[in-house]
Amino acid sequence: MTRTLTILGIESSCDDTGAALVRATDGAAPEILANIVASQTELHAAFGGVVPEIAARAHAEKLDLVIEQALGQARLTLRDLDAIAVTAGPGLIGGVLSGVMTAKGLCAATGLPLVGVNHLAGHALTPRLTDGLEFPYLILLVSGGHCQFLRVDGPESFSRLGGTIDDAPGEAFDKCAKLLGLPQPGGPAVETEARQGDPARFAFPRPLLDRPGCDLSVSGLKTALMRARDAVVAEKGGLTRQDRADLCAGVQAAIADVLAEKARRALSQCPGITAFAVAGGVAANTVLRQRLTAVAGDLPFVAPPLALCTDNAAMIAWAGLERLRLGARDDMTLSARPRWPLDTAAAPLIGSGKRGAKA
Ligand code: KG4
Ligand code: ZN
Repeated sequence: MTRTLTILGIESSCDDTGAALVRATDGAAPEILANIVASQTELHAAFGGVVPEIAARAHAEKLDLVIEQALGQARLTLRDLDAIAVTAGPGLIGGVLSGVMTAKGLCAATGLPLVGVNHLAGHALTPRLTDGLEFPYLILLVSGGHCQFLRVDGPESFSRLGGTIDDAPGEAFDKCAKLLGLPQPGGPAVETEARQGDPARFAFPRPLLDRPGCDLSVSGLKTALMRARDAVVAEKGGLTRQDRADLCAGVQAAIADVLAEKARRALSQCPGITAFAVAGGVAANTVLRQRLTAVAGDLPFVAPPLALCTDNAAMIAWAGLERLRLGARDDMTLSARPRWPLDTAAAPLIGSGKRGAKA
């Protein structure tokens, strides 16, 4: 029997409040009927990072509004839904709780099934929503808070092949931008400067390339950048536009080299996969995309549109829909989890997610 499922997704694990509606009919491409994201960037700007208490309060204030807006845009009411999916972790606990409590309230009022979703599963399953990827595939999640290679074998089956042991690459871009007096978020600023730069002028390290496996490290880059910057300043009394561009190009090349080599290794550990996908804010980087496309070779390389690569609720609705199809349901005992690794068999990542559990 062909089934059509319409599901509301709720996301509030970091600094974006999201509500989305996704509809899928068996055998047909799924449809995003609405995808609303209210960003809190401005609320946190003065503090140099996400302040958990401010985030939780803002989510609690905005959730009802974004849900109403999403339903309005899709011209649906709660009565048209088959279930409600919500991020139950990992993330900043106050924000996750706001979302889980809202979802529980709506489910209690309507009798709709509740589906808890792992935020990282949302990212990792997005290429199935956007490009209809078949299992198994390899995905690199690379953002300001996370970096990991995951082999995805099913909606609830993930194997982590490796990841960062310290900073996430987006965090490295952000810190390097700060050291050069560039605006935040640093990734786009570094990429823009790097376009005019010579990536070979400064020799930045490529940490952990000499060690086997897919784990990586990028935290040494900011120290290397600081030294290179200070050496130029000591010699010339300041940085020219060209110096800054060369430093940016050097940092970007080092990050792209490390990720490309680790991706090559991850791919070699995944025979029989259908595609290599990427998600997370850093996936916007053109140089990185080119490198990863080259590493994928004949294998399809899939990068979902940026709005679905960064935090959003459509991915949560979709991951919930995939779980619902498997018969999964949660009840009122669903709890908010600050930490929730996708692959519980893998050793925990040392130091990752220092800036919060956002991916
Ligand atoms: O996924 P995302 O929106 O949220 C987090 O999980 O943090 O990713 C944001 C991160 C930031 O660190 C930002 O600097 C980085 O993605 N980013 C980029 C680019 N655009 C965003 N990094 C490198 N190149 C870019 N073009
Ligand atoms: Zn995320």
